[in-house]
Amino acid sequence: MIKIAPSILSADFSRLGEEIKNIEQGGADYIHFDVMDGLFVPNISIGIPVLESVRKITQLELDVHLMIERPVRYLEAFSKAGADIINIHIEADSEDETLRALSIIRKLGKRPAITLKPGTPAVDAEPYIRLVDLVLVMTVEPGFGGQSFMPDMLPKIREMRKLIDSKNPGCELQVDGGINPETAPLCIEAGANVLVAGSDIFKSEDRKKRIALLRGIN
Ligand code: DX5
Ligand code: ZN
Repeated sequence: MIKIAPSILSADFSRLGEEIKNIEQGGADYIHFDVMDGLFVPNISIGIPVLESVRKITQLELDVHLMIERPVRYLEAFSKAGADIINIHIEADSEDETLRALSIIRKLGKRPAITLKPGTPAVDAEPYIRLVDLVLVMTVEPGFGGQSFMPDMLPKIREMRKLIDSKNPGCELQVDGGINPETAPLCIEAGANVLVAGSDIFKSEDRKKRIALLRGIN
């Protein structure tokens, strides 16, 4: 079954509680929570206090995408604030520190995950792939919602699917950026099983229908 993870970056923050209830009732699987530090990406978004508030109002798994430099510094804080999946970029620190971060996430009882920017080849995930529960292949440059899907990421999704199947078959393969009813089937066909969608879901009137449509159910 394909999982849908609405990115609340595109939600109306003045009514965040209602927005979350709405996607929960719409059948979302995870809540995708984008954290940006203004250094790793040229934008600043939401962080620990907002995550704490979201944790209080939903039982859904919180999928925290850390677009921050040296994420190892903040793992405990995000864990305490209620993250379930803690996802770090492999470009955000050295290989040793990334490995250390993944083992800390596991010890904290959370699900470790890694993300690759569009310019990072699939093979760069190899040192980490057996240690993670989810790999995210970015389908836009991280930093902003509402960008267009990069079709040249499809071969990389396919390559990552092969890598996962041979080295860690239980691992999930997520895509993030520009996902809509046109691009979702392409990613699913290439091997993704978790789709992040921000603007497409939050701009639509009927989120339940939209989530079903993205999942491939008409
Ligand atoms: C981008 C974020 C995404 C973003 C996706 O840096 O990681 O999660 O919210 O937004 P859409 O679905 O609008 O491309
Ligand atoms: Zn994201």
